[in-house]
Order: sequence, then C-alpha cells, then structure tokens
Amino acid sequence: MSFSIERYKEESRKLDTAGIDWEAVTADPLSKGDLFSLHYMMDIENHVPLYLSHLLVTRACMDPILTAFLACWNYEELWHGENLGKLLNLYGIQFDTQQRIANVRANLGFQNSVSILSTMLGSWLLKDFSAVYLTIGAINELSTRTGYGALIRKSGHPVLKDLLGRIIKDERRHFAFYFNSAKEWLTDNQKAQRVDRWMLDRFWVPVGQGVKTQEQVDALALYLFDDEQGEEELLAIDEKIGKLPGLSGVKLMSKALYAARERRRLDPDWAWRLIENEEWAVAPPKKSPVGELTTRRTHTSAEAMGAFEGT
Ligand SMILES: [Fe+2]
Ligand SMILES: [Fe+2]
Repeated sequence: MSFSIERYKEESRKLDTAGIDWEAVTADPLSKGDLFSLHYMMDIENHVPLYLSHLLVTRACMDPILTAFLACWNYEELWHGENLGKLLNLYGIQFDTQQRIANVRANLGFQNSVSILSTMLGSWLLKDFSAVYLTIGAINELSTRTGYGALIRKSGHPVLKDLLGRIIKDERRHFAFYFNSAKEWLTDNQKAQRVDRWMLDRFWVPVGQGVKTQEQVDALALYLFDDEQGEEELLAIDEKIGKLPGLSGVKLMSKALYAARERRRLDPDWAWRLIENEEWAVAPPKKSPVGELTTRRTHTSAEAMGAFEGT
C-alpha cells in the first residue's frame, strides 16, 4: 500500500455525487439501527475540524507533508458529513445541519479545552507523541471504512450503498496516509514504539467516543459488528494495525466489541434501548449556549441585518 502526497494533493476533491439516485432514497426502508448508525457517522464526520484542532497543536504540524494532507483531508471529510446529512434529510428526518453540528460541539464544553491542552502538553513533553496521533488516525480511518462496509451490508439500501461506496474510496486513501506515516515514524524507533503501545493500551477509544457516550459507541458496535462477519472484520483491523512496528498482537477494536458485549450481558437493555427509542437527536447544550460560543446565533436575521446596515 503506497501513498504519494503529490498525487493526493492533485487528486483531492469534493466527494463526487454525480449520478446518485437521491430521489430513490425513500423507495427502500432504513431500519432504526441504520438510522442510528447514520446519525452517529454523520456527527463524527462533522467533528473532523475539532479533531484537526488537536492535531495542529502537536509537533506534527511542523511537518509540511502532514499539513498538506490535513488541508485536503479536512475538506474531503466535510463532504462526507454533508452528504450523510443530505441522505437523512431526503429520507424525511428533519434537522438543521449547522445547528446540529454547533450543538454537538457546544456539548463538549470544558472537556474539549482540557483535551487540547493535554495534547499540547503531551506533544511538548514527548517527541514521539505524533506517532500516537498518526496511529490513531490509521485506526480511525480503517474502522470508519469498515463501519461503512458493515452498514452497506446491514441496510441493503441501494442509494446508501452507492453513497457509502464513494465515501469508502476516500477513507481508503486517508488510511493509507496515516498508516504509512505512522509506519515511517515508528520504523527503527524503539522509543516511539514504546510510547505508541503504552498510550494505545491505556488511552485508546473507538472513533467517536468522547463526542458520543459509551452506550452510544456500544450501540453502534453491537449493531454493525455483533455477528461472525463483523467480529472477523474487527479482528482484521487489529491485525492490520498490529503490522505497525512495535504493535504486534495489539487488540483494540475487538476488545471494544467484547467489552460492549459484556456491558450488554450485565444489562440486557444496554445500547439497544437507544436504537429502539430512536435516540439519535442531539440535545441542545446545557451550558454555554451555542450563541455564546459562536456569537452568531444570538441575533435574529433582522438584527443581524440592522447591525450590518449600521456599519
Ligand atoms: Fe469520512
Ligand atoms: Fe477519512
């Protein structure tokens, strides 16, 4: 698996949706599990700029190849979220995309600032901290790609299959970049390997956790992967990540699935109740209203216009 940054820069573009039969979205049903997964995935795609804000406070941003990649990657991910939202809207689920994104972010509150500061500190203290972020990037892209494949299989929905098939092509390139960059950093670098392994074993969480609750993460994992094929796919992700120097035998995705199963064993309603009760809305923030954080949403359009005219 190779990756050329020059080629990627040349070829990076907005997701091509030409020819997708959007009008047929309502012709086939989506189950509650499909809809739960789609909302989760959309929110996490839309969360990429905040993930990027973490990356940009690390030493990693000194690398011009990485920053060139991130510039294109962030743009491509934007269109993944946009198109998942479009599909949900066309299916008949109404929400304002900008409001939803703003609510997800506002709900993070103080935790996001603490997380950025600790990432910055970790990067200052540990020269090889970037290896951890690159490895996590590889796991996230590979698990996203695998999750989309599982959702295609579970839903059997032709329009969703077409859309996700196109997104998967982007995710494959993203994975290639992160994996190759992590490999480069870790090769012949014992110290980086030790730091990477230590951090992953203790602090790694599946993509989306932190933005989503443990129960939401489990609901997605159990809906998409709690069968023989799903489990095999998660083991294959671990095996692939285990090919990185120093990570042989690492268990991440499969461990997350087994932990989710255990939580459901202790509480049979666990996770499924979220899917059953159609809990895919995002609550408005309890503290720090969006308007306060963005300064955009406190004005009505008339007020905004007045302010504009007054300048
Ligand atoms: Fe994506
Ligand atoms: Fe991606």
